[in-house]
Amino acid sequence: MRFLPEPSAQSLRLLFLFLFVMGVAPSPALTAGCPDRCVCDDQLVVQCAGQDLTLFPNDLPLATRQLIISNNRIGDLPALQLNYLSDLVYLDCSNNSLTEISESTFGNLRKLAYLDLSFNTLLQIEDRTFGPLASLVMLRMTDNPSLGEIHPDAFLENIALQVLDVSRNNLTSLNISSLIALPALRSLGLSGNPWRCDCDTEDLCLWVKIEGFKFQDEGQTVCYNPPELAGQRLADVGMQLRLDCHQGLGYWDYLFFIAIGFVIFSAGTVSAWVMGILMVLYERYTKRKSEEVDSDDEDQRGGGGGGVCGGGNQGNGDLSKPGMEV
Ligand SMILES: *[C@@H]1O[C@H](CO)[C@@H](O)[C@H](O)[C@H]1NC(C)=O
Ligand SMILES: *[C@@H]1O[C@H](CO)[C@@H](O)[C@H](O)[C@H]1NC(C)=O
Ligand SMILES: *[C@@H]1O[C@H](CO)[C@@H](O)[C@H](O)[C@H]1NC(C)=O
Repeated sequence: MRFLPEPSAQSLRLLFLFLFVMGVAPSPALTAGCPDRCVCDDQLVVQCAGQDLTLFPNDLPLATRQLIISNNRIGDLPALQLNYLSDLVYLDCSNNSLTEISESTFGNLRKLAYLDLSFNTLLQIEDRTFGPLASLVMLRMTDNPSLGEIHPDAFLENIALQVLDVSRNNLTSLNISSLIALPALRSLGLSGNPWRCDCDTEDLCLWVKIEGFKFQDEGQTVCYNPPELAGQRLADVGMQLRLDCHQGLGYWDYLFFIAIGFVIFSAGTVSAWVMGILMVLYERYTKRKSEEVDSDDEDQRGGGGGGVCGGGNQGNGDLSKPGMEV
């Protein structure tokens, strides 16, 4: 007994998974049937709309390609059950009570092309929520009255995305840095949100102005705040925001000028110092040169009388000069 190793967390987890798959819970792999209150056809479509379901349906056929669970009261998409459906192409979850979607919810749905999350009660969309959905072409996420925040990188990896509709939510701003980089995006719905038209939405407004043809209901895509811009179309305030937001000098501009000023100041100081030293050296040099020239002259004048003088006699020569004149 003492020599048996402690079961590690890893092996316990494997054991539980094994029990789970082998029949403690009925595995989707072993059920060929159709969930309660749903209709399944041989086209691999499972239709569960409007059945007053409060839970995600159990026992879905593994090969399901289309799943329609709209018009129910489902509050949660369980990642484990959903991710068995790796062939899913079409998922309609509209008109339910979903409040939250996590990074793992769609972890394995690489073929999913259509996703509808409209008419739910989502609060926010985080980074990487849709990350694994590499084939997603159309995402509808309208009419979530409390949806006020979408992470800037939420759609970063959805390179196949063509249609994104986030109309009639509670969005006040949207960072478009990753959206404008999506190569296939051709249709965006933003209308019916309480957009706050300030410097944070400047990029969005300019985008709507420049590529207005991409935006559905562009005429209803209007500012809600500030009050003086309320009701104006985003496209119409874009240029004005651009001017207003880049008019004065910002904090970084001031920092930049201070830094530049400092650089100029120190460069000036250093160069003045170097110049000063050069001047002094030059002055000394020319002085010595002229002294040498002077003494050469002296030598030449003195040399006329008494031949070549040595360096040591130079001083004497100078001293003797006044005497000679006397
Ligand atoms: C949502 O579903 C309910 C039934 O669950 C239905 O009565 C209602 O009309 C649906 N709403 C929308 C907007 O489809
Ligand atoms: C929408 O967002 C605002 C804050 O931006 C908040 O006060 C309001 O309650 C939100 N609306 C809903 C329905 O959640
Ligand atoms: C938008 O998001 C990107 C990436 O997260 C960030 O670098 C950028 O500063 C954001 N832009 C605005 C205006 O907040």
